[in-house]
Amino acid sequence: MKAGEDAEPFLGRWQAAGFVQHSTAFASHRLDQAKDVYLRWRQSKYALTRKQLLLGLGTVFFALVLLVAANRSSSTSGLVASSAANGVCSNARQNPHNIKAPLRPDVQRLTAFWPGVKHALDVGGRDIPKLDKPDYTYSPQGPTIWEFRARTDQLTPEQALKTRELHADFVRAIPPYPKKTFKGKGIVMLAGGRYSEYAVTALGVLREIGSTLPVEVWRRDQREEKHDWCREIEKEGMACRRLSDYMDTDLVDVKGGYEMKVLCLLFSSFEEIVFIDADNMALQRPELLFDTKAYKETGVILWHDYWKYDNIDWLDYIISNSPTRNENLWNETTHESGEIVWDKRRNWDALMLATYYNYYGPTLYYTLLNFNYAGWGDKDTFALAFRALQKPYHTVIAPPADAWERDKAGTRRIGMLQMMPGSQPPSATFFHVTTVKWSFREFVCEGCLPIWHTDQLGDAFVSYWEDPTSDLWEFLHNNLTLIEPGIDKWMPALPGTDDVPLDPEVVMWRAMEYGACRSKAWRHARTCMVARRYLVGTFGFSFVRASKPGVGVMEGNGEAWVPGMGEESCLIDPPIGRRRVVVR
Ligand SMILES: *[C@@H]1O[C@H](CO)[C@@H](O)[C@H](O)[C@H]1NC(C)=O
Ligand SMILES: *[C@@H]1O[C@H](CO)[C@@H](O)[C@H](O)[C@H]1NC(C)=O
Repeated sequence: MKAGEDAEPFLGRWQAAGFVQHSTAFASHRLDQAKDVYLRWRQSKYALTRKQLLLGLGTVFFALVLLVAANRSSSTSGLVASSAANGVCSNARQNPHNIKAPLRPDVQRLTAFWPGVKHALDVGGRDIPKLDKPDYTYSPQGPTIWEFRARTDQLTPEQALKTRELHADFVRAIPPYPKKTFKGKGIVMLAGGRYSEYAVTALGVLREIGSTLPVEVWRRDQREEKHDWCREIEKEGMACRRLSDYMDTDLVDVKGGYEMKVLCLLFSSFEEIVFIDADNMALQRPELLFDTKAYKETGVILWHDYWKYDNIDWLDYIISNSPTRNENLWNETTHESGEIVWDKRRNWDALMLATYYNYYGPTLYYTLLNFNYAGWGDKDTFALAFRALQKPYHTVIAPPADAWERDKAGTRRIGMLQMMPGSQPPSATFFHVTTVKWSFREFVCEGCLPIWHTDQLGDAFVSYWEDPTSDLWEFLHNNLTLIEPGIDKWMPALPGTDDVPLDPEVVMWRAMEYGACRSKAWRHARTCMVARRYLVGTFGFSFVRASKPGVGVMEGNGEAWVPGMGEESCLIDPPIGRRRVVVR
């Protein structure tokens, strides 16, 4: 399916029926502002002559024209800060921080370094040995030491030596840091295909928690674009990037796509980057990471995974870290790469080396690093680069903590919590979801179609809400939260409070409501209703009509009003500390 054909069918029907979507919540804030101007004018106690009245009305009209004009030009020039007129309908998603989307990049300047890097990659890859990806061999205890050692035979001493020499060739050929190429601090997220659905939540969460960093959302190429979404997120200080504009994407493995992460870091216009996976939710503003001692000292922050290394024992020898093969790494803990903080200026050499490991990852380095028992891909290539260069880097000391699925503590992990470096007691800064992906489409789609060209068009799209055999069906249908309680001890304080733990589910549903109901690119009428009923019934969210700003009237005689997708409304958070947990 091509981009542009992927609009939701129900959206089309609404439009065909002559239904006109109300102004977006954003535009309604514009009107609030205009109304403010009007009210202030009316409240002035002067008796008005007819002339003054006309003059006043003229001013109001002029203000409106200006506001409409500002709104029109907002996608290119950034936004005028919108003031929630009354506080009732304040919504972080309307960009009150006036975050500018990163400028359209000068691709020519940003890719000037690439031929040199490509040359070094070729020099370090001549007749490079290959290893097949190991079969998936998960077992609860993990592979035995005998299995580890048996694997080492896949590489002969001659091949190991050849790989070591090529590695050294590449290190010698690393081009210098390209000055005046990258600029500023920002967030990089890799989306595309199904991952774009997850990114709708993760990007929303970033703004919900108050991050003001500009964001680049990367995809492989045009095929992976969702109609109009890129234009929509510009209003929130985010911009889409296509890797195919920067390099020949046929060079990277289409199936796994693990090599794309490092390439996004490389080509991003930002110099200092927080990379975040599309299925990873920031629980604290990522900009805080740049202020940590860890980052200031090394210019890099990595996080551990759960498992120990299960690498082929030639690895240290190959990276010239040891004159012989050894098992040293097997006692060390691996990394995950759902979040990476990187200063390209200070760590360009390590980024180059990580690029090398990923470029030859699917055919060699991923298998040198991982048994494919618990992960295989880019995850450990970043730390390996620092190990090879014997350069200091920071891995967060606190191990990841677990978030379990409701009623499945200890058996079904729903996500991993990664901690803020140096926080004591450890305070989670990322919630990297694993088995269950937090996207409104996965959770509550009702009658949705598959939308990506990679989906089998003949297959129905079945959400958890529609699948009675899924674990989550019962929870979603009974207004039950999905995460097992007990994660509060890791949670940062809810912004604006001292000690109320942030509830990640509340934040994620706020972002998912936006996707299901308000985003022009993603919304879907029936799904929106399912989502809204669930978040009202489960968490105590409520709605007020946006056409009555400041009044905050609850519709329906005190009963919760659940507006349909087309009804202009503000989403009101559950009362702090009184989150409703429905017990069976
Ligand atoms: C790894 O740890 C085990 C158990 O503590 C120990 O017996 C072994 O010598 C260690 N190996 C290395 C290479 O440090
Ligand atoms: C869940 O909450 C919604 C909204 O309050 C309500 O309409 C629905 O009946 C509730 N479902 C159950 C099973 O209680």
